[in-house]
Amino acid sequence: MRELPSYEGVTRFWHPVLAARSLGKKPVRVTVGDRDFALFRDQHGRPAALVDRCPHRFAPLSAGFVEAGRLTCPYHGWNFDREGRGRSPSQPSLTRCDARAAKLVERHGYLWLADETASEDALPAATFSAPLEYMGSYSMLFECPLHVALDNFSEDEHTPWVHTRLGWLPRDASKIEYEARNFDDRTEVRYSAPQRPGLAMRLFGLGPEALFVNEWVTRFDPVRTDYTITHVLPGGRPGALTLRAVIFMVPEGKLRTRFRVFVSASDAHPVRGKLSKLLAPLVVGLTFKELWDDARFVPTVAHTPWSFEGMRLGRFDKPLVHNRKLLERIYLGLGAG
Ligand code: FES
Ligand SMILES: [Fe+2]
Repeated sequence: MRELPSYEGVTRFWHPVLAARSLGKKPVRVTVGDRDFALFRDQHGRPAALVDRCPHRFAPLSAGFVEAGRLTCPYHGWNFDREGRGRSPSQPSLTRCDARAAKLVERHGYLWLADETASEDALPAATFSAPLEYMGSYSMLFECPLHVALDNFSEDEHTPWVHTRLGWLPRDASKIEYEARNFDDRTEVRYSAPQRPGLAMRLFGLGPEALFVNEWVTRFDPVRTDYTITHVLPGGRPGALTLRAVIFMVPEGKLRTRFRVFVSASDAHPVRGKLSKLLAPLVVGLTFKELWDDARFVPTVAHTPWSFEGMRLGRFDKPLVHNRKLLERIYLGLGAG
């Protein structure tokens, strides 16, 4: 495949599209793949989603309003219930005036969207598990195609140059220990290298001898990467902090990718561990800043072609090649790839 793919059809998978608290009385537009959806709450407060195109003359329903639980088009007042069943106020006898509905459910503080045919059993599993504690979530826009964002999150070789806190210094780049394994439905990657020094690291008891360890699994139904960061202290003791970030990469058209990030952590330190509620903003902020470094950098490589042809790939790029195949086969449904 040489051209950038169409993301039509990716809504057969569930995607996190909006923090649940961000959907109030007004409809909100979200984009998944190449399609816009109008989200709203019906008269019982239940979230609902319609394709954001009025069946009459294609006005955006998200620019309308909700009345008596029905989403009303701002142009000629046609209105729709949560299943998309339409009525025209000027022509009450009109039939076949329905909007297309999608499924929208609330889980983990987020609204998740999929086609009407999707089963709720296919919703991605919980974004954290004990002993980790949920710390918070946020979204971030990456101004690049999905495959470029995914490439960036498939290797840590860029860490010393693109990042400033987690990870290692350029002078330690040759000390990386690295393992990558390809599976039919996922890739698994593990890096370790000396943790670079810094104030945030000292706060978590990580001195100059600490070894940074980053392990992750990438899956494609939908596209998401599940990162865990830990440390090994001198003498092989584990560091107190475990940080996990589950990152969903939601394509919004060909050149924009929206990240939805769920952060959890645990801290085995006897005092700090009890302050988890107070430290949550710090922990979430630490991951936010790391992702922000990536989001600032990747627009400079947004033109990266779909094919790796002509690139001089190294050993750290092995997961990128496999991920591209899985992206084609599983997420885009394009056969063997
Ligand atoms: S375009 Fe929506 S009612 Fe006319
Ligand atoms: Fe990065």
